[in-house]
Order: sequence, then C-alpha cells, then structure tokens
Amino acid sequence: MLKGKKKYLSPIILLTLLLSLAGASVRAQNDDIYVGYRQMIMRSQAARIGMISAILWGNLPFRDHIAAHAKTMERNAELMPEAFKKKAMEGETRATEEIWKNWDKFVAAAAAHKKESAALAALALSGDSAAIRTQMKKVGDSCGRCHFSFRYP
Ligand code: HEC
Repeated sequence: MLKGKKKYLSPIILLTLLLSLAGASVRAQNDDIYVGYRQMIMRSQAARIGMISAILWGNLPFRDHIAAHAKTMERNAELMPEAFKKKAMEGETRATEEIWKNWDKFVAAAAAHKKESAALAALALSGDSAAIRTQMKKVGDSCGRCHFSFRYP
C-alpha cells in the first residue's frame, strides 16, 4: 500500500477553488483538474479495498457492506477509460505515456478490473468468506497489473 507524503488537491479545496474561479480561469487549469479527477477515482478504489479489508481481516461486523463497496469499485472501474481518455499530464501525475500509446490495452485492464470487482460483488452476497478473500486477491491483482504497465512506481 502506498503511503507517500504526496500533495494533492483535496476534494474540498478543489471545490472551493473551482467555486472561486471564473469560467476562463477554470479552463486554464483544466489539465490539473483532469489529473485530480482520475486520481480521486483511484483513491476511491483504495478506500473501498481498505474498508473491505477492515471488515474481512479486522472482523468488523459490517459484512453486509462488502457488496456495496465492491459494487462501487465496479462502477468506478467503468469510469476509468473516460477519466483517462484526455492525455492530461499537468502537475503531479504518475500516469505513463503508455496509457495513450497502448490505449486498447489500458481499456482492457480497466475492463478486467471491472470484471473482478463485479465477481466480488456477486460473491459478497454468498457469504462464503474463503471465496470472498480469494476474490479480493484477484481484485488487488487487477489493480496491480494496470499499475505495473501504466503507472510510474
Ligand atoms: C486501468 C488501470 C488501473 C486500474 C485497474 C487501477 N489503477 Fe490505480 N492508477 C492507475 C494510474 C494510471 C494511476 C496514476 C494516475 C495519475 O497519477 O495521474 C493510478 C493511481 C492510483 C493511486 C494514486 C492516486 C493519487 O492520489 O495519486 C492509487 C491509490 C491507486 N491508483 C489505487 C488503485 C486501486 C486500489 C486499484 C484497484 C482496486 C486501482 N488503482 C486500479 C491505473 C489503474
């Protein structure tokens, strides 16, 4: 799990910033905002993984929540291709050029991740702990495979 001291636009600061800007200045900041947007999708995925892990391995009594978290991950995965389509490289980003050079491969990695997340959502309802844990590993692998190809370490 990454634990950098990286600075990013927090959602609230971003909101305040955007509300204070006129349309023209917003456009000047555009690439930055694209980068922030896609990174927020990623942090949302990381938060879901964290919450499911807390339930599974930390024994929190929220097993009913797992399906909702997995479903959100599936939906976030669906948003990834559109969120990355514009080649925005302003500010702090670890996205590599490979994304746009191998666009189809990137889209396929997002689709594979969506498929694993959907399988997790379906299994979550089954209540089979061992199967859910195994599927969590597969979801994590689908994140890792995309990062390996398309994100600077
Ligand atoms: C289809 C490819 C792909 C998949 C699937 C994917 N990621 Fe990412 N992820 C990226 C890329 C590319 C970046 C770098 C984005 C940037 O810095 O502009 C990134 C960045 C991140 C970041 C850093 C965000 C930040 O604030 O800079 C986290 C955390 C992260 N991903 C977690 C996850 C987790 C957890 C999963 C799976 C549940 C996942 N990602 C699935 C491609 C992917």
